[in-house]
Amino acid sequence: MDSRRLGFVLGVVLGLCPSVAMQADGSEDEKPLYKDATAPVERRVDDLLRRMTLEEKVMQVNQYSLGRNNNENNAGAVARVPAEIGSVIYYDQDPALRNDFQRKAVEQTRLGIPVLFGHDVIHGFRTITPIPLAQSCSWNPELVTQVCAQSALEASRAGVDWTFSPMIDVAHDPRWGRVAEGYGEDPYATGVYAAAAVRGYQGDTLSAEGSLAACLKHFVGYGASEAGRDYVYTEISRPTMWNLYLPPYEAGVRAGAATLMSSFNDVSGTPSSASHFLMTEVLKERWGHRGFVVSDWDAVRQLINQGVAADGREAALKAFNAGLDMDMMDDLYQRHLPDLVNKGLVPMERLDDAVRRVLRIKFEMGLFENPYTKEMKREKRILQPEGLRLAEQMAEQSIVLLKNENAVLPLERASTIALIGPLAKDTENLLGSWFAYGEAKDVCPIDRALSQEFEGRADILYAQGCGMEGDDRSGFAEAVGVARRADVVVLCLGEKRRWSGENAVWGSISLPEIQEDLLAEVKKAGKPVVLVLSNGRPLDLSRMEPLADAIVEIWQPGVVGGKPLAGVLSGRVNPSGRLSVTFPRSVAQIPIYYNRRPAARKGTQGRYLDMSSEPLYEFGAGLSFTTYDYGEISLPKETLRKGEEMTVEVRVSNSGPRDGMETVMWFVSDPVATLSRPVKELKHFEKKLIKAGEEAVYRFTVNPQRDLSYRDAEGNLVLEAGDYYLQVKDKRVKFTLID
Ligand code: GLC
Repeated sequence: MDSRRLGFVLGVVLGLCPSVAMQADGSEDEKPLYKDATAPVERRVDDLLRRMTLEEKVMQVNQYSLGRNNNENNAGAVARVPAEIGSVIYYDQDPALRNDFQRKAVEQTRLGIPVLFGHDVIHGFRTITPIPLAQSCSWNPELVTQVCAQSALEASRAGVDWTFSPMIDVAHDPRWGRVAEGYGEDPYATGVYAAAAVRGYQGDTLSAEGSLAACLKHFVGYGASEAGRDYVYTEISRPTMWNLYLPPYEAGVRAGAATLMSSFNDVSGTPSSASHFLMTEVLKERWGHRGFVVSDWDAVRQLINQGVAADGREAALKAFNAGLDMDMMDDLYQRHLPDLVNKGLVPMERLDDAVRRVLRIKFEMGLFENPYTKEMKREKRILQPEGLRLAEQMAEQSIVLLKNENAVLPLERASTIALIGPLAKDTENLLGSWFAYGEAKDVCPIDRALSQEFEGRADILYAQGCGMEGDDRSGFAEAVGVARRADVVVLCLGEKRRWSGENAVWGSISLPEIQEDLLAEVKKAGKPVVLVLSNGRPLDLSRMEPLADAIVEIWQPGVVGGKPLAGVLSGRVNPSGRLSVTFPRSVAQIPIYYNRRPAARKGTQGRYLDMSSEPLYEFGAGLSFTTYDYGEISLPKETLRKGEEMTVEVRVSNSGPRDGMETVMWFVSDPVATLSRPVKELKHFEKKLIKAGEEAVYRFTVNPQRDLSYRDAEGNLVLEAGDYYLQVKDKRVKFTLID
């Protein structure tokens, strides 16, 4: 009997004695290399891999659920989870269940491989922070890193090792509910935030206490889902794939993201979850990613629905050979891979590669040395001061002041404020989608925040006016009466938290008619109206905008709720948010986004005959309580060689009465290229505090290879000599790139 076979037989026999590990030649050793924390990770991976049976390898590339599944879009759970499983989605907010299960894996299985516990920590675990779309309007990636680090700390103490975040799907269609989970419409900004989130979640090392393995999702093109519908097909050309949808993922991979999640959508007929081009050629071969790809929930089995697999066996075969390393929840890998490998349809090398990737992350996370979570009292690890402080800072910086007619804000002169609307006292909906273990009782409602903020300064009158939806207008009269007795109206309208996020597609992006009617009715009282919006997507505000004197977009701010808003209304907070996503004037304009390619006809040709072709609010829109004056862009040279860099700068002065934080966005235009390029593309941004009366200098070092190039259909970087423009606000300068 050869040594391998002997090793296998003995492995099975000695499986009854889990503490003794087998050598491949059947010899026993007390402390196998893979358990030696001082040994290099790759050697530990190799040592462990060669000890594993086929069944043990297959278990590592499966993920089941553990605990009470609270995800309304993915019902189901696995009754008995084998302790040899590679990973579980962890549905509990305390570590005890995790530790119990981990003990079975580490102490009662033959090789003692720890399990990886994942969870959707999208914008907080219990300390729910603003939704990612809001965070992207802060233009403060350093703050995103800090917020993600706090979320990681809170989640890791609850027993989570791995978050299915950041979601970095560039999206141009606000009918798609998942626009709430991403960082807006721009690929460069999304990439900056992707890297910032990865740094926050993973910290300096994956094994550090409080770190979570990150998971870039949904790889790739999910944001291009046709007509904004969820789970459907996309049509993405290769140049668009390379220049719009892939860049954030490359940025996240370069930042060290441990894992990625494959997406539900297909890309021009090939589902991402079966795309060898994406998961192997691009991600692993071209980008050298050394972590692993997990499927989205049931995405392997869904290949049958998508028409590329006849049954679960074929779905498993296609997904796995395409490079999809781990199967979330549909157990097709467990069921079919052993036979597919034994029949040679899945090469053992492919299985070994996937298992190696999973083991590598587990070793790098230190799970073999520290498989258990320290069990702290819940109140000592949730809703901690630092996490709450950063959540409030983020919510303040995410607020976008869209309109402020006649400087109605801040409310420094109001002695009576009419607080009206279905969201004025609301808590639950301010959490937004993917609220993990956030609780409504944690949220500070707008009415309480205003009462605290304006105590001793103004009286707050309240009327709900109407519900979030429906047609009960019986509360309108009371609302108008309250408005009549006040100096100003603060009207709080918006979306329910489940109206955005996964499986939340809308044909209309207007608010329910009853909310619009409430605004129109209250306006008749003849007082200034400050419209406050809490929502998870760009809205069609075309009917409401004319009736509002001010519009404050607070998004879904999380547990801090109305406090940042109260600060803006009182003037304590000078709003500094800028839109990371275009607000269409109408759903008919969709898709509409700033970085579009130039049309064949200029001027008025090709524009709508029945409406404006311009958005209501464009990418980058946002007002302040102070005024910023931009100087001219200083261009050190008008000719730049391809191998050179050039630092350009612009001076911005704060000529207004208040300190403020201003974000300068630098756009590049390439008006003549082999492939038509967008009319302008964001390539750098920076946010700075500028005190009243002072000025700041913003600089951008232009690196032609990084900032002026694009990719062709094959993904090759193209850098072409010729004229380019740099633009900041309405300032624009030209320079020429030469070889
Ligand atoms: C969901 C989502 C994905 C999430 C996963 C696990 O269907 O598409 O974003 O991470 O399942 O909950």
